[in-house]
Amino acid sequence: MAKTYHIGLVGGDGVGPEVLREGKKVVDAATRGFKIDWVDYPYGGEHYMKTGELLPDAAIEEMRKLDAIYLGAVGHPKVKTGIIEKGLLLKMRFALDLYVNLRPVKLYENVPTVLAGKGPKDINFYVVRENTEDFYIGSGGTVHEGTEDEVAFQIGTVSYKGSKRIMEYAFELCKEKGMNRVTAVDKANVLTYVYGLWRRVFEEVGAKYPNIEKENNFVDAITQWFVRKPEWYQVVVTPNMFGDIITDLAAAIQGGMGMAAGGNINPGKVSMFEPIHGSAPKYTNQNVINPIAAILAGGMMLEHIGEKKAGANIERAVEEVMKDGKVRTKDLNGTSKTSEVGDEVARKVAKLVG
Ligand code: IPM
Ligand code: MG
Repeated sequence: MAKTYHIGLVGGDGVGPEVLREGKKVVDAATRGFKIDWVDYPYGGEHYMKTGELLPDAAIEEMRKLDAIYLGAVGHPKVKTGIIEKGLLLKMRFALDLYVNLRPVKLYENVPTVLAGKGPKDINFYVVRENTEDFYIGSGGTVHEGTEDEVAFQIGTVSYKGSKRIMEYAFELCKEKGMNRVTAVDKANVLTYVYGLWRRVFEEVGAKYPNIEKENNFVDAITQWFVRKPEWYQVVVTPNMFGDIITDLAAAIQGGMGMAAGGNINPGKVSMFEPIHGSAPKYTNQNVINPIAAILAGGMMLEHIGEKKAGANIERAVEEVMKDGKVRTKDLNGTSKTSEVGDEVARKVAKLVG
């Protein structure tokens, strides 16, 4: 009997449900020798406004038993900023301990990049973003709120164990991909406590990988190096907040937010895959948003659950559709609709699957 995977679908807000629909179409087209049972979840801004519910604990418990979670985007213009982000996306990342945020930065052939004189052979690396610590832990407070004496504070933490597991993941990824350099990002020249620890752990873990080159980059410096010399980078390991910032920059050099996928991973456990872009509310239901990021996230998801061939077929189909250049959305200077891109990639995938 064919193996069946149970995968949760959280469309979320804005364009999330549309891009996820295309991703699901492509993932379904890639299945051979296994089946997917999709489990729909209503969570997001609309659901929150109707019910007051963000992501209930019972849903988290149910999600633990799934094989993966596929998420569209979060952020609703009618809900105060931070509520859904923290209550849904960050809750999922923290409760399921999805400590790796893996963001491949790859420029496919015939995809326009903002970098002059750089091409696909120059832009091909991985950002491994720590996903459960740093300023994202949500610890802080305010005193004298609403007065001129108001003071707010928010703290970030870096732990030995948290740094160790993300560094280990980064070095193992580097080895697995046949690469030979890991760059650790920090701001250890100013935030000496937290990133001092981060650096010590990088050295400790790195010592176990004598054949891999190690280097430290300050976060401010790496932003300009991503633009000037992207070909230098192979695996970049970064604390949470710097990782958030540098991956939007990285997305721009790989063809834009519409091309950038990510996996929120706990190796061996249920993990969540999503395009890294936001909910782009003003484009909702216009069928114009690029679904490639969501589609690539679907490919990463299949790879993660062990269907490597199916995952690779999705990436290859995307590569071919981009190379053909006929079917693409407006952000890539095309005229196709979101659904047309999904149809085309699904068609290519079906051909590859045979
Ligand atoms: C991302 C997003 C999120 C983050 C937001 C929506 C909370 O920007 O996944 O990069 O900051 O991690
Ligand atoms: Mg971000």
